[in-house]
Amino acid sequence: MTDSDFSGSGLPAPLTDPVSVTWQSPSNIAFVKYWGKTGRQLPVNPSLSMTLSKAYTETKLTAFPHKEEGAAELEFWFEGKQNEAFGERTGRFLQSVSDIFPWLGQVKLKLETHNTFPHSAGIASSASAFSALALCLCSLDAELCGILLDEMEFRFKASYVARLGSGSACRSLFPGLTVWGRTRSLPGSTDLLAIPVTEVHPVFKSLRDTILIVNNKEKAVSSTEGHNRMINHPFAEARIKQAEKNTSGLLEALKNGDKDTFIQIVENEALTLHALMMTANKGFMLMYPETVRIISRIQELRKETGLEICFTLDAGPNIHLIYFEDQIEQVNKLIVEDLLKNNKQSARIDDHYGLGPVKLG
Ligand code: DP6
Repeated sequence: MTDSDFSGSGLPAPLTDPVSVTWQSPSNIAFVKYWGKTGRQLPVNPSLSMTLSKAYTETKLTAFPHKEEGAAELEFWFEGKQNEAFGERTGRFLQSVSDIFPWLGQVKLKLETHNTFPHSAGIASSASAFSALALCLCSLDAELCGILLDEMEFRFKASYVARLGSGSACRSLFPGLTVWGRTRSLPGSTDLLAIPVTEVHPVFKSLRDTILIVNNKEKAVSSTEGHNRMINHPFAEARIKQAEKNTSGLLEALKNGDKDTFIQIVENEALTLHALMMTANKGFMLMYPETVRIISRIQELRKETGLEICFTLDAGPNIHLIYFEDQIEQVNKLIVEDLLKNNKQSARIDDHYGLGPVKLG
């Protein structure tokens, strides 16, 4: 597979009437972290994530006839209001995919989008936003240019397009567990797009993720800037080897239903991600004292109660508490009576293993 497999064509005939498509696409949580990129948004190491269910973006994209040809014209509506800042980032993204969708210069676009979770909750909204937009673009491509792909080809193309908007977005296109980035341990894996993990023990289909909100302010350092700080990072080489080893170990654990190894690798990846931030040449810290308190407590509670709980972190201070469906009641009690007991915000978002994007229209 190469980039040229995805280049497209212009409109076969000028558009006469508006055409709309609507997709719902979820966020995802990485268990092996993508941290560092190169070239045209390519990862420096493989990553592995779980597609979520309740945290998603719904996007409607309408193409209108346009008299003059030129750069893509876009009107961006976020949660019922026009949003210039989002419009600009999306406009730049549309420019960058004009080789895949040459018809973008021949139409006017209106994009209407909203999330099911608060924008500032610390959930990676770029993953759901760019995967939803990529799906809309691929659906319009099919309707406007008659591009016919089978279901998997369509998802792979959407994953390729989503990656160009935000790396982690390319992993939201499939149900359950997904790998992005070439790894020896998964045949067919590639840096260009994500592929689903098919050998998954049923126990991992009952995974749950409760996000414990420690702080929902905008992050001091964005993920994109964080990726930049991996360039010439003193531990870059070791990190790439470690991610490869963790991906292979996790794939094996997922296949065998090995929860202990799963827990060990998931926490190792979360702590590594934040250690890499702190040890970058321009080091920074996104954890808060409350983050450290809660993750230490999760480790203690695992020992004290024997419950199969662990944590992961995104590039932010909020904690993803990972556990299994059959312990939902005990874990809920721990969250309310212990983990969030003295937390002023006491905010949480309950999510779980998801089934992937849905076409709404
Ligand atoms: C820590 O996908 O948000 O969540 O490609 O620059 O948009 P861009 O970055 P982004 O990075 C996500 C980083 C992470 C780990 C992960 O999701 O794998």
